[in-house]
This record gives sequence, structure tokens and C-alpha cells, in this order.
Amino acid sequence: MSSVSIHGYGDDLTIDGVRIGDLSPAEHEAIELSKGGQNYAPLEDVVVSSVQDSSTLICRKPDPEGIKAYIEEELLDGLCCYSAVNQGQLNKTIVDAVIAHLRDEKIPTVPRSIRHKYMAAFLMAATAITKMDKVVPKVAGVEAPELMAKLSRRWGYRVKGIPANEAIIVVAAENFHGRSLFAVSASTDPTAKADFGPFLPGIEVVPFNDADALEALFLEKGDKIASFIVEPIQGEAGVILPLENYHPRVAELCKKHNVLYCVDEVQTGFGRTGADFAHQLYGVKPDLMACGKAAGGGIMPVSFVAGRRDVIDVLTPGSEGSTFGGFPLAAVTSVFAIKALVDEKLAENARLMGDRLLGHFESVRVEFPDKIKEGRGSGLLTAFEMFDKPGLDGHKVSLKLLESGIYAKETHKTTVRLAPALTITAAGVDHIGDSIRKVIKNL
Ligand SMILES: Cc1ncc(COP(=O)(O)O)c(C=O)c1O
Repeated sequence: MSSVSIHGYGDDLTIDGVRIGDLSPAEHEAIELSKGGQNYAPLEDVVVSSVQDSSTLICRKPDPEGIKAYIEEELLDGLCCYSAVNQGQLNKTIVDAVIAHLRDEKIPTVPRSIRHKYMAAFLMAATAITKMDKVVPKVAGVEAPELMAKLSRRWGYRVKGIPANEAIIVVAAENFHGRSLFAVSASTDPTAKADFGPFLPGIEVVPFNDADALEALFLEKGDKIASFIVEPIQGEAGVILPLENYHPRVAELCKKHNVLYCVDEVQTGFGRTGADFAHQLYGVKPDLMACGKAAGGGIMPVSFVAGRRDVIDVLTPGSEGSTFGGFPLAAVTSVFAIKALVDEKLAENARLMGDRLLGHFESVRVEFPDKIKEGRGSGLLTAFEMFDKPGLDGHKVSLKLLESGIYAKETHKTTVRLAPALTITAAGVDHIGDSIRKVIKNL
């Protein structure tokens, strides 16, 4: 017999007598520590309770007087869920569409074994925005690079003629493609890999931003290499931008050696870097592209692989699939996430506001040249890096920024990433810039 009592909504939501609205930040942490896996280390003493507008979170923090369970404060969202909320929290275009869909259209879920009328809409919108021939929907971001790996191998055997089970996929060092076994097998991060082996064979690593190393590997093993999977700009590695000619050279080398050029745009796509997709900044066209995060507008998990017709066509019924990949609600959400990107000119705003934010980083660097090593970014995928010196600590900066009402988080010990919603205004960007200046001054 089931034995959990659940009633109420919002703060009145009560599980076995515990009302969510009564919990202090410390009590939230205690429940997460005792009942949840410890695979994240969230910022201390802050719990998001709602969003106020596209870039503002309402957060609960400990009451300094110690009387109430918490106080509530506004927090400018400088990360927007690692680029999942490019369109801004509760983007009206997307929310209206989702509500209308559930209330009026009434078709939330059907399996892929029967057609639904929104798949056609999703495929038309997704191929149009990506300028690719075909799209395969998935759910989580990690599933998209995972599918690129499978497509690469099958294309390698069936089209390129690589001997069975000998296909090689090349990846870049310091990559981040998610947490599946392919992704961690491809990872060079010891923390992501420790004791998760044995890893997938057939993966080779070259340094990022080093086309010569890629060429040398292609010359040595090109006959067996199916694809090179790379982020156009490395996000999790700390917003690492390659040289201008890196991607054009990579694209050329891949073409020359009959290797698929596959970009993972899960984080860089959907306007984030100032173009609809970051590879467009470099004037190249990949054979396959992985998208996720903002593909669902921060409302639904949506990911997909877009690519060349002849590559996607190696899939056959039964060889791939996903219960919720492209189900009606996800399909509609993604269509309107794409509409918001286009109608609200989000890539253009990312370019303008990103330049403004980089301007702030530069003036802080000029003012504190002994503390700030550099500011970098493209569009609104940005980061500033401090020197590796005592007292200059990314986590400490994140906590200090939190006190001044900005949510940002370190990516590495000395690097802090800022990637706010692409709907952010100049005033919001200036607020971030001013807060960084104050925090760095007091370090
Ligand atoms: C480039 C890239 N690929 C894949 C992923 C994995 O996405 P998800 O966490 O939604 O599975 C991420 C997440 O940050 C990413 O940045």
C-alpha cells in the first residue's frame, strides 16, 4: 500500500506533514544531504523559490535576525541554468504556447510509434533555424552528443567503409559533452571519470584549438576515424575561444580526410554566443550538430541532433529512439523556443549586451591588473579569469557576488562564468559589471 501523504500547492505543498514553505535554507540543505545523491555542491545558504521576471530569481536566505525561517531577496540570474534559459525565465511566447497546448489542444504525450501533428511543426522549425537537412529529437543535452557518436560510428562502417568495430571518434581535451558513458569516456577531467571505468574504446583525444595535432592524427589514422566531435567554444572548460581560423581549418581537414565534423552546441547554441549557432561565427558548416538546453526554452528538456541528410539517414527503425524525444509537448515547446529566439532577436541582443559586459570586464582588469588576468567571451557566453594567487578564489567571488544580488558560479578555481538570459537589458549588464568591480576591489 502506498504510504506518502502529499497535499497543497506552492509553499503549502506538504509531504508527510512537512510544509515546503516552512523550511529554512539550512533545512533544505539537510534534506538534500540526507535524501539526495551528492553529485552537486550548490551555493550555500540560498534557495530559489520563484522567478520575478526573465532575469530575476526570488531567493530565500537565512534571516540575519534569526527570527523567521528565511528572508526573501532578488537575485539577478547571471547563469540562466548554464544557457538553458536563453529566452529568459517564463518567456511569454513559450509559456502561452505551452498553456494553450495543454488547456486547448490536449495532446501532451503519445509515443513515436504513432504520428502526432506537432512533429512536422518541430521538424520544419528545427531544420529551418539550424539550416540543416534533418533533425532527430532527444531529451537531455547529453543525449545529443551521444547520438552524434552513434551516428558517426554507423556512418563510418556503412558509408566510409571502416572495418567492423574499429571506428575512432576524435574529441578535444578539456571537452564537456555531459555525463553518459560516452561523454565521460571522452572526458579528460579526472573527477568526472574516477572509478567509472572501463571506458568506451575507440576514442582519441587531441588538444583543443590545435588543428596541426588534428591533422597529424588524421594523417596517421584517418582511414579509421569516423568523426571529430568538438564544442565550437568550450563552455565548461571556462569559456575557451579558439583562434579565428581553427574551425575553418578543422572543417577543411575533416572534408579532406572524409571525417564527420560534429559540433556540440548544447551550450553555445540558440543565440548564446551572438549568432544563432556558434559555428556560424566562424563561417563553417558542420555535418552534425548537437543542440539541447535552450532548445526547450527553459521550460522543457529538449535536445536534438541536426545534420546532413545522408548521415542522419543511416538510422533505421529500431536502431535509435526515445520515449520523450519529440513528444507533442516537447515539440510545441521547442517550436516556440525557436520563435522567441527569432522574433525577439536574441542573438543580436546577446552580441550587443555581451560586448557591453566584456567592456565591464576590461575596465575591472585595467583597474585591478594584479588580480584580473583576462575577460573573454562571445555574445553572452563570458567569463573573467583571476590570477592564481592566494585570496583570488572563484568560489569566494561567487559567494560575494551573491551578497550583492548576482548569481554566478566559478567554472574553475580562478574563473567565473557569466551567461545571463539573452533578454537582459543594459541596466542588468551594468548591475553585473558594477557588482564584479566592488567584489574584486574588496578581495
Ligand atoms: C557542450 C555540452 N554538451 C552537453 C552537455 C550536457 O547537457 P545536459 O546536462 O543537459 O545533459 C552540456 C552541459 O553543460 C554541455 O555544455
